[in-house]
Amino acid sequence: MPNPLHFKNIEENIQQKKELQDKELNRVLGGGVVLGSLILVGGDPGIGKSTLMLQLAIKENLKVLYVSGEESEHQIKMRAERIGIFNDSCHILTETNLESILTHANQVAPEVLIIDSIQTLHSTQIESAAGSVSQVRECTASLLRLAKESHIPTFLIGHITKDGSIAGPKVLEHMVDTVLQFEGDRNYVYRLLRTSKNRFGSTNEIGIYEMSGAGLRAVDNPSEILVTNTDPELSGIAISSTLEGLRPFLIEIQALVSSAAYGTPQRSSTGFDAKRLNMLLAVLEKRCGFKLGAKDVFLNIAGGIKVDDPGVDLAVTMAVLSSNANLPIPPGIAFSAEVGLSGEIRPVNRIDQRIAEVEKLGYKKIIISKNSKGFDTKNYKIEVIQCSKIDQVVKAVFA
Ligand code: TYD
Ligand code: MG
Repeated sequence: MPNPLHFKNIEENIQQKKELQDKELNRVLGGGVVLGSLILVGGDPGIGKSTLMLQLAIKENLKVLYVSGEESEHQIKMRAERIGIFNDSCHILTETNLESILTHANQVAPEVLIIDSIQTLHSTQIESAAGSVSQVRECTASLLRLAKESHIPTFLIGHITKDGSIAGPKVLEHMVDTVLQFEGDRNYVYRLLRTSKNRFGSTNEIGIYEMSGAGLRAVDNPSEILVTNTDPELSGIAISSTLEGLRPFLIEIQALVSSAAYGTPQRSSTGFDAKRLNMLLAVLEKRCGFKLGAKDVFLNIAGGIKVDDPGVDLAVTMAVLSSNANLPIPPGIAFSAEVGLSGEIRPVNRIDQRIAEVEKLGYKKIIISKNSKGFDTKNYKIEVIQCSKIDQVVKAVFA
């Protein structure tokens, strides 16, 4: 029976991390991959999970065992050639039998093990079919044991069900150390890698990739890519400084407001919560006197990005007003504030980082809430305009 211990007698367990060359993956893992950790990578079909993991297998300078139950060796080789093979010590195994995978893993003794996907594995110990709850649970438990005993960091690719959760039992997410979600709109090239659970680091980090013809490319400066409009004549476009996790970047909001052709006006929103758009439109109508009730309103976030940061409210509002009045927002202005139910401009978190990002990208002005705290205008060359009401913002922008 173990005796109770004083803290000073408990040995420090310093997590050994291996730094990866993939900066984005490093970032979301909290600075590198922890030895013996089990990492689940979830995401919609076709989003790029296999590509991300194969890239890890063939681009890092590590001995990797990549197990695929989804594709043939030929398919994998074709994909690898597309990305470019740099790693001579990558082993490919196409196998779905758990016991055989464990045997190979012990023989190869890789520095990283990748399983594509956990739903294709089956253990002979269990009667039910691959992908069933009991199979997924059993196979994950065995791989967890292998990871902990051999200290091999193991990535499991997991499919996602229609409602967005990782297929299989909920316990899967409890069993693993880290859960990464790969997201994006398949019609666009940007992909976000988010941490939704991490025993070894923060869950605030995100990685940003671009899917190219030769695999995934890390995006160092997302703002430059997400903000594409350079035509100062276009109305309905507003720039917002937003945060994804701890990472600030700028996004371009596009609105189209037109007289409704039919009785009921249409409202549609891509990348921004439709209910929140309706709320902002109601605020503009009821609190600020803009007649939008009979107008169709379409909203889009450029680049296929989804945002749920309330800090983009003000830019959404201004994009709508700009389109409605058919007046372009002068270039060089960005926004970062929440809009409240009475039309008040509310402060948002980490305003200093948001301002700094706007300044870095060469903007001249940023409009934020009068009540914003935690920054000092002396630190910026950019003009920081603080407003408390929508009409003040309208004056500041269009006057
Ligand atoms: P994939 O990694 O197979 O997705 P998942 O494993 O999540 O289902 O990614 C598939 C998509 O990525 C596919 O539509 C082809 C595209 N792709 C590229 O655009 N460039 C590339 O270099 C590669 C390898 C794939
Ligand atoms: Mg795949």
